[in-house]
Amino acid sequence: MTVSRIIRGRTLAFRDDPFRVSPDESVDQCDDGAVVVAEGRIVEVGPAQEVLPRHPGAAVDAYADALVMAGFVDTHAHYPQMELMGAYGAQLLEWLVKYTFPAETKYSDLQYARAGADAYLDACLANGTTTASVFCATYPASVDALFDAALGRNMRIAAGKVMMDRNAPAPLCDTAETGYRDSKALIEKWHGRGRLTYAVTPRFSPTSTPEQLDASGALWREHPTTLMQTHLSENLAEIEWVRGLYPQAPDYLGTYEAAGLLGEGANFGHAIHLTEREIALLRESGSAVSHCPTSNAFIGSGLFDMKGLRDCADAIRVGIATDIGGGSSMSMFDTMKAAYEIAQLRGYSLHPARAFWLATVGGAEVLRMGDRVGNLVAGYDADVMVIDLKSTPVIERRMRRADDIWDALFTQMILADDRAIRAVYVAGEKLHDRDEARADA
Ligand code: GUN
Ligand code: ZN
Repeated sequence: MTVSRIIRGRTLAFRDDPFRVSPDESVDQCDDGAVVVAEGRIVEVGPAQEVLPRHPGAAVDAYADALVMAGFVDTHAHYPQMELMGAYGAQLLEWLVKYTFPAETKYSDLQYARAGADAYLDACLANGTTTASVFCATYPASVDALFDAALGRNMRIAAGKVMMDRNAPAPLCDTAETGYRDSKALIEKWHGRGRLTYAVTPRFSPTSTPEQLDASGALWREHPTTLMQTHLSENLAEIEWVRGLYPQAPDYLGTYEAAGLLGEGANFGHAIHLTEREIALLRESGSAVSHCPTSNAFIGSGLFDMKGLRDCADAIRVGIATDIGGGSSMSMFDTMKAAYEIAQLRGYSLHPARAFWLATVGGAEVLRMGDRVGNLVAGYDADVMVIDLKSTPVIERRMRRADDIWDALFTQMILADDRAIRAVYVAGEKLHDRDEARADA
């Protein structure tokens, strides 16, 4: 095995869940650490003084004043919506009709979708996000474009074709039958190729008939290594609508339950306004939720209950997510900051150890990739980011007062943006270098 490179800096890895143990017990950190990479994988993580002599002649990328950690994992985003981020003045149901559906219609065109997919994945990398679970549009071409672009970058990306067969413009609708058939063909074409994972993607109960949800459940059962992603209880008017559309269902989650869409690998976006029954059902079924804090604030949806769902006995698996383009930022720093602020509004303070854990290890676990990505561990894929801890004059001044790792990390999650992402490695290859990108501009 030939070592392809060593990444040197202040390394941070998680050894336990900071919702269960204290922040200090949850991490392994080294002020002068080294991550050894070979054949796309992490071979070794340890103090540079011990590690470097074992690999004489290996190329070393050394970063001063920088934190080396696993790339971010964004557990819920819609790539065709990047072009409508920051759309003014609407809440969920109006926002979908006014902005979202028209934008997604354009993704029937493969060339258009390719350009959108490249722009999206490049923006992910520039923000340190190396893995995401992505909604495409209804059109298979929109999935081909994203997976092709992810394969070209060798990124670990989950994605799926949105299925919807009612309550959306005709050009965006499939049927229970074509949604199933086209998704199945996409699974056969893409799932497990390179580092790609297919996610069965019924958009949400209001835009699917019960027949389509049933077909989605059947498809997921036939392909149990795929993921399942959808939306749940984001907005109060949406919940009322579901009540009217599914009079037999006990609650919103019950519409998915009836179709066999719960279980490990199921990932429900938003999950804000939940009943006790729904919370118990999510927990018992091993389903996960994606907290989308910038989106929930921006579209005015509500305040996610981090304490009640995650910082408690019998916690539910939670990831944090940008929810582009309902979300207002591509940055997981902004996303952690919004998660902190929303928790504060509910009287709960989200510790930076927990925020960074959710944005890496926690997200990977939501996507059943917790043994591959989201952490700096020997044997894991070398998806690594380098965070410049003094990326702006304001942060530089603030960091003079940061006397421990937690204050340094908290400063980053509140003040940093893509300027802090110094470098990003995907399967060991450097795909983003901030300073080279600047020099090119
Ligand atoms: N619910 C159904 N579709 C969507 C979407 O595209 N974005 C958000 N935020 N919520 C949804
Ligand atoms: Zn969404």
